[in-house]
Amino acid sequence: MLSSLLYVSRSLVGHADEGDQLLAIQALSHLRNVALDVTGFLVSTQNHFAQFLEGDADAVSTLMQSIMMDKRHTDIRLSPWLEFDDRLFPHWRMTCFPTGCFVSRHVEPIIAGCHERMNTNSVIRLIKFVRDTAPDLGRMPTR
Ligand SMILES: Cc1cc2nc3c(=O)[nH]c(=O)nc-3n(C[C@H](O)[C@H](O)[C@H](O)COP(=O)(O)O)c2cc1C
Repeated sequence: MLSSLLYVSRSLVGHADEGDQLLAIQALSHLRNVALDVTGFLVSTQNHFAQFLEGDADAVSTLMQSIMMDKRHTDIRLSPWLEFDDRLFPHWRMTCFPTGCFVSRHVEPIIAGCHERMNTNSVIRLIKFVRDTAPDLGRMPTR
């Protein structure tokens, strides 16, 4: 059965080695998530990570156990398990929002809101926001 969940955490990745750390996360996630058939997105901003994972419940749980032990973030707030009929993000993608006016005005408030109040409404709002602002994340792969 298809199961999904989202978490928002506080990033501990310093500005100096942000690029290297994000590349490392992306490379490993791509390998492991494809192997586990887990799709979704990881959004990184200066202050937060927001990650949506969907796939087999056991595979998502396995991944989540590793992710929760990772010292590159803290204060991880998990959504309840969510059920959708189809994958919302049919491939694995990661996107980084660098600092700037758009991010501080539009991205951070939604992610921070989700971190403060994690419930179905805030999760749906964040998912919709990602699908609207980065529509390629939700598109089918062109293979
Ligand atoms: C914000 C964040 C998101 C991550 N997302 C994934 C992911 O989707 N898939 C993955 O394999 N590793 C991800 N990682 C890396 C894992 O936390 C972990 O370092 C890696 O899976 C190795 O785990 P292991 O030491 O249990 O083998 C993420 C790390 C961070 C900080």
